[in-house]
Amino acid sequence: MRPLAPRILVFDSGVGGLSIARAIWQQLPRARLLYLADNAHFPYGDQPDQAVISRCLTLVQGLLAQQPADMVVIGCNTASTLVLPALRAAVKLPVVGVVPAIKPAAALSRNHRLGLLATPATVRRPYLDQLIREFSPDCDWVRVGSSALVQLVEDSLESGTVNAATLARITEPLRQGEVDTVVLGCTHFPLIQAALAATMGPEVVWVDSGEAIARRVVSLMDNPGLGGLSGEARAKMADHQLFFTAAPPKGLGVWLQRHSVGDAGVTGYWGG
Ligand code: DGL
Repeated sequence: MRPLAPRILVFDSGVGGLSIARAIWQQLPRARLLYLADNAHFPYGDQPDQAVISRCLTLVQGLLAQQPADMVVIGCNTASTLVLPALRAAVKLPVVGVVPAIKPAAALSRNHRLGLLATPATVRRPYLDQLIREFSPDCDWVRVGSSALVQLVEDSLESGTVNAATLARITEPLRQGEVDTVVLGCTHFPLIQAALAATMGPEVVWVDSGEAIARRVVSLMDNPGLGGLSGEARAKMADHQLFFTAAPPKGLGVWLQRHSVGDAGVTGYWGG
C-alpha cells in the first residue's frame, strides 16, 4: 500500500523551492512538506561551487537525521547539478533535482529565439551548454543571470508585488533579443511569473520545471519501500515544517496562508 502522506524534504537557498513544493501539492495534495532553506548563505548563485556542495550536503543530512522523510527534492537549479551525485551516495532515499527546462521550451518557441532567466552560476554552467547543444541546436538563446532578481522575489513575499521598473531593467536583454519563450531557470522566478509576464507582454511563453519535477516525485511514490516511515510516525508529524538557517523571510506566513498551507510550523536559525 502507498504511504498516505508522503513526507518530502524540499531544499533551496531561500523561498524558491516553494514554487516546486506548490507544484508537488498540485499533483500530490496529501504530501507533507519538510522545507529547508539555507538563507544564511543566500544567494547560492554568487557562491563558489564547493561552498554550495558542502552546505547542501551537511544541511540536508543533518535535518534528515532529526526529521525522517520519504524523498529529497533539491528545489534549486544552482545546487542541483553540483550536489546530486554526492547526495545520492550519502542518503538512502530517492533524490530529485531540478534543471532548466531547455528541451520543452525549444519545442514551444515559434521564432527559435529563447531567453533563459536564472542565477549567474546557472547561466555559465557547462551542463547548460550541453543541454542547449543537445535539445536546441537551431535556436538562439539570450541568457540573463541575476541575483538581484532572486533577492527581489525574497523581498516580494510579504507584499506580493514586485517593482515593475526594476523588472523591466533586468529583463531588457530578453526584449532586445526578441525572444518569444523564456525558461525560468531559477526556482524563485515562478513565484513572480505574473509580474514578469506583465513586463514582457502577452505573447511570451513562460516555461519552468515545477510540473515535471512534481510528475517525477509522483512516479517515485510507487516505490513500495519508500522512506520506511511507520504509520505511527507519520500520524505524529505536523502537516508541514519549514526550517531556515537564518531568520525566516518577512511575509512567509502571508504566502503560506495565501496558498492555503494549513498547520505549518516555521523554524528559524536551524543549523546555520
Ligand atoms: N532558487 C535557486 C535556483 O533555482 C537559487 C537562487 C540563489 O540562491 O541564487 O537556482
